[in-house]
Amino acid sequence: MRELSLHILDIVENSVKAGASLIKVDVVAENGMITVTIDDDGRGMSEEFLRTVTDPFTTTRTTRKVGMGLPLFKMAAETAGGKFDIQSTEGKGTRVTASFETDNIDRAPLGDLVSTIVSELGDDAPDFVWTYRVDGREFVFDTRELRRQLDGVPMDSPEIVLFVRDLLTENFDIVNGGTIL
Ligand SMILES: Nc1ncnc2c1ncn2[C@@H]1O[C@H](COP(=O)(O)OP(=O)(O)O)[C@@H](O)[C@H]1O
Ligand SMILES: [Mg+2]
Repeated sequence: MRELSLHILDIVENSVKAGASLIKVDVVAENGMITVTIDDDGRGMSEEFLRTVTDPFTTTRTTRKVGMGLPLFKMAAETAGGKFDIQSTEGKGTRVTASFETDNIDRAPLGDLVSTIVSELGDDAPDFVWTYRVDGREFVFDTRELRRQLDGVPMDSPEIVLFVRDLLTENFDIVNGGTIL
């Protein structure tokens, strides 16, 4: 069972490759469901292409020119009693939503979301707004604010990475309130 944070890393990488300048990721656990939304302002996809990307069987594995990130994320949601949705507009952006029953035996653990977030830090990287919410307790990490405060210090320098890692770990602990997703 693959961790949800690794699926998130995969889907976020699609947004980066699509030339997004702002990527918003919400991870929300409430009312017995975990819902993940990844929203970007990248180049988007045509309707025709969009239909093929979530279906691993439209082309055979050997001729398929694209990977399996989206089909695998969809499958992970559907096996855990949840739903998957992708909406995309060419030239505007893409939004991927996947939900999971929190207590479903087949639901993958959330895993190390902090490492996923930290791995995307960089001066040349797109900006991110990460929202993490559990039962109404919420923490938002907005790299645009961090960028302003750093005033030229590289966002992926070791001190900053360590600072962000601590900031996220502390605040996510508070949001978790003792539960482990
Ligand atoms: N956010 C996105 N914006 C634009 N195109 C996307 C996005 N996500 C996926 N795609 C397109 O769908 C394809 C399939 O994505 P995915 O299943 O993650 O496999 P891979 O990234 O390995 O090709 C990508 O190659 C890309 O062409
Ligand atoms: Mg991918």
